[in-house]
Amino acid sequence: MFRLAVLGSGKGSNLAAIAEACLAGKIPAEVAMVLSDVAEAGILAQAQERRLAAEFIAPGKFRTKLDEEAERAYISRLVAAEVDLVVLAGFMRILKGDFLRAFPMRVVNIHPSLLPAFPGLEAWKQALDYGVKATGCTVHFVDQGVDSGPIIAQETVPVLQGDTPASLHERIQQAERQLYPRCVGALAEGRVLVKGRQTVWAS
Ligand code: GRF
Repeated sequence: MFRLAVLGSGKGSNLAAIAEACLAGKIPAEVAMVLSDVAEAGILAQAQERRLAAEFIAPGKFRTKLDEEAERAYISRLVAAEVDLVVLAGFMRILKGDFLRAFPMRVVNIHPSLLPAFPGLEAWKQALDYGVKATGCTVHFVDQGVDSGPIIAQETVPVLQGDTPASLHERIQQAERQLYPRCVGALAEGRVLVKGRQTVWAS
């Protein structure tokens, strides 16, 4: 069985959607490991409720990345769990060279905007402040940049009059819960082919 690791720092709604799709047989994979850099993160509770292997691994001394020791701990945990794909779902740390080299083209992320618009933090708020009429979410491979790797798929979400950051974020997250399981399923089936920046979905 294709083995997924899901890494997150937040409430874990994407983990829940992916785990449910695995159980329902919509994704030919299993969630083998859930890791978080936040001890009290909802994603760990979500994992425990579903009896998935879950661990907090302390991120070390930096705020936006893992320190060297922590990075080594994450890598060795994931290697020991023999994961085939690392699925970032709201993991709030930038992953650097050594981590990405350990899992080449096997780390994916979901970002709450239509990249390359609004990379970085609170993308739904950036979209609202900019005044765009549509935004969405993007699943992409992770490379050395911030939210910059080859795009696997995107889903558009309208920005409605009277939206608040919270209401827009919720609408984007609803789309994420559809898009991410679909992408992870295609990756598990080996149907996503990558050539440079282009990805092609085989049928
Ligand atoms: C998602 O909105 C994702 O786009 C962003 O972080 C959030 C994670 O949400 N990168 P959850 O923890 O999966 O509910």
